[in-house]
Amino acid sequence: MAKNSEIEIAWKKIVDEIIKCRKCDLHSMRRNAVPGEGNLRAEIMFIGEAPGLKEDEMGRPFVGAAGNLLTKLIEEIGLKREDVFIANVLKCRPPNNRDPTEHEMNMCLPYLVRQIELIKPRIIVSLGRYSGIIISRLAGIPFKGITRERGIPRKINLFTNQIIFLPTYHPAAALYKPPLLNSIKQDFETLKSLLSNKEKFDDTLDKYLY
Ligand code: URA
Repeated sequence: MAKNSEIEIAWKKIVDEIIKCRKCDLHSMRRNAVPGEGNLRAEIMFIGEAPGLKEDEMGRPFVGAAGNLLTKLIEEIGLKREDVFIANVLKCRPPNNRDPTEHEMNMCLPYLVRQIELIKPRIIVSLGRYSGIIISRLAGIPFKGITRERGIPRKINLFTNQIIFLPTYHPAAALYKPPLLNSIKQDFETLKSLLSNKEKFDDTLDKYLY
């Protein structure tokens, strides 16, 4: 297992590269790149879509309205933001918060891959459609749409690690479609069970192993 200092050095290197990145046009519009933040030894990694206005201003993930909801959901299952790691598929804000393009996602993906490889989370929670698609693609499994996949934990092989993958809706979606809030809350309850019943769930999930 890597020492704390080694993890921190590797993390700083990733951050430096993201801050200097010019692999797609989004770099020319950003105020700040948003590499991600949290516990480098986190058991849970949340992966959103891309920074919004506030995140671009602050250089930190999920600090706007959707972020407040995410923080609340994390706290409601007895955790703190500092316990988990929060990252995005894209590290720079798309203009007017438009959807990420395939090119942007492809250019940015190596950073996310390195983040996952460094942190080695036991559980990845994807927030929203794009993040669900990207994690499924990395694991070589189909993604049949967020409405069908959300709330179903699956064991996936990601690089050399076995990870539990739990897709859910994006918190921003719950802000403007209140019925989705109940679904996200249910999915966070599933997450809580995954944490508290480690062995039971790891065994049960074997049948979902891809
Ligand atoms: N939405 C995201 O997907 N990520 C953020 O960091 C903020 C809003």
